[in-house]
Amino acid sequence: MSIPFITAEEAASYIKNGDNVGLSGFTASGTPKVVTIALAKRAKELHEKGEPFKVNLFTGASTNDHVDGELARADAIGIRTPYQGHSDSRKLANRGGMHYFDTHLSHVSQDLRYGFYGDIDVAIIEVTEMSPNGEFILGAGLGMTPTLAKLAKKVIIEYSSYYKTSFRGFHDNYVPLDPPHRREIPIYKPSDRIGSTVVKIDPAKIIGIVPSNASESIKPFAAGDEVTARIGENVCSFLAEQLRTGKMPKEFLPIQSGVGNVANAVLYGLGENPEIPRFEMYTEVIQDAVMTLMEEGKCKFASTCALTFSDDAMLHFMDNIDFFRDKILMRPGEISNSPEIVRRLGLIAMNTALEADIFGNVNSTHVLGSKMMNGIGGSGDFCRNAYLSIFSCPSVQKNGAISAIVPMVSHVDHSEHSVKVLVTEQGVADLRGKDPRQRAETIIENCAHPAYRELLWDYVKLAEKNGGHTPNNLYACFALHQAFIETGDMLKADFARYGC
Ligand code: COA
Repeated sequence: MSIPFITAEEAASYIKNGDNVGLSGFTASGTPKVVTIALAKRAKELHEKGEPFKVNLFTGASTNDHVDGELARADAIGIRTPYQGHSDSRKLANRGGMHYFDTHLSHVSQDLRYGFYGDIDVAIIEVTEMSPNGEFILGAGLGMTPTLAKLAKKVIIEYSSYYKTSFRGFHDNYVPLDPPHRREIPIYKPSDRIGSTVVKIDPAKIIGIVPSNASESIKPFAAGDEVTARIGENVCSFLAEQLRTGKMPKEFLPIQSGVGNVANAVLYGLGENPEIPRFEMYTEVIQDAVMTLMEEGKCKFASTCALTFSDDAMLHFMDNIDFFRDKILMRPGEISNSPEIVRRLGLIAMNTALEADIFGNVNSTHVLGSKMMNGIGGSGDFCRNAYLSIFSCPSVQKNGAISAIVPMVSHVDHSEHSVKVLVTEQGVADLRGKDPRQRAETIIENCAHPAYRELLWDYVKLAEKNGGHTPNNLYACFALHQAFIETGDMLKADFARYGC
């Protein structure tokens, strides 16, 4: 059966108002780049004629401007899950213009197979190589692609000719059986390969092939500042101490690292620290820093869901692809983030918080409890199940007007039961084995900015009057947030008004 080449506009014309649309990829990597632009254009044209047009968007993780940006600006998204990070889709979610539900990245493929969200009407899948019998080589990110390829009623292929070198052999496509037939996922070390290098798609359900030549359009991270560098140093010296004191096996353990400047600073810090042995990663994305660490010999292997390299770094990767061939494996998000594997391998999970409270609860997603930033991403998949779960953030934001350490978080993503270590540029709070009062002391003294310590102690003293296992005062616990809303400065919080 020969599959026709079609234009992006033709492909978009097959997608109907209200369709559930699944996209390949994870972050910008491996995400479609041309059909969604045509879809956004079509939505705008239909809206101008007074016709409704929105699709429900299911992706591996965040996407790129070609997807979330274009479709959000066209007001063409009905339901959106599991993660977004584009400023236009964030705005849309925060004004209630789309139904964004934030969920663990490892859950969505199986939730779709369980039928929780209805059928996938159309999947748009970026591939880099294809054969007439329906075998496809994916690109720089997997996300939910193997599940979408199975479930989708119709498939549109975006055939990317951007990559001049073959990705063949970098993918480990695997879909677990669903309960009650599920068995263990047989990964016992980060480099274990369990699946197929290709994704099979029934040619009968492929609408057509749309050519594309677009890059992932990922910009390099801005150089970190003094604060991120100090956070990185604190994490690294803490890990070195864990090795010295035997709380971590001397062989070290695989690393999961979130994205962003802090994550980059930590990774470079690990690279430079002579006490940290060569390590492996079992993570959901690898950025430019990991490629450097591999070339320096410090990072031995990385299992990931995507190569989130900046465009220049991706060209470097492609030029040197043979060096990386036995050092990187890309897996679907439900495997890269599988709680079962995270627990078995004993990961060191390092993620970022927006704010944390003095008892160790972490908010990663909601500014002042209401405004969605990005989503929980994979942080919950990793944090709850890791050998050691570390959250880090700067102690203050907005020139000191916001303290990241607060009496009570305004939204909970990761509870005190899962958060083992908190790190800011001020220091490290090791929460293991500590009760709530002890946690409050170590977090205030080691992690809070000195300007906020007295204020946080004022809260503890006030809350102590109520007694209890976790000292709290439900009238005063959001006094810092309230002061920020009223005056633009958390430091203006005044516990005297609550009787302190
Ligand atoms: N209150 C209000 N605003 C805050 C804040 C707080 N407590 N903490 C941070 N901000 C603001 C910052 O000032 C900054 O604002 P700006 O864009 O106007 O400059 C913005 O939020 C981002 O802060 P920054 O310190 O640059 O954060 P980041 O880029 O390191 O990202 C998270 C931090 C938490 C948003 C990000 O890591 C995330 O989305 N995490 C959840 C998903 C995840 O963990 N993924 C990885 C799993 S593998």
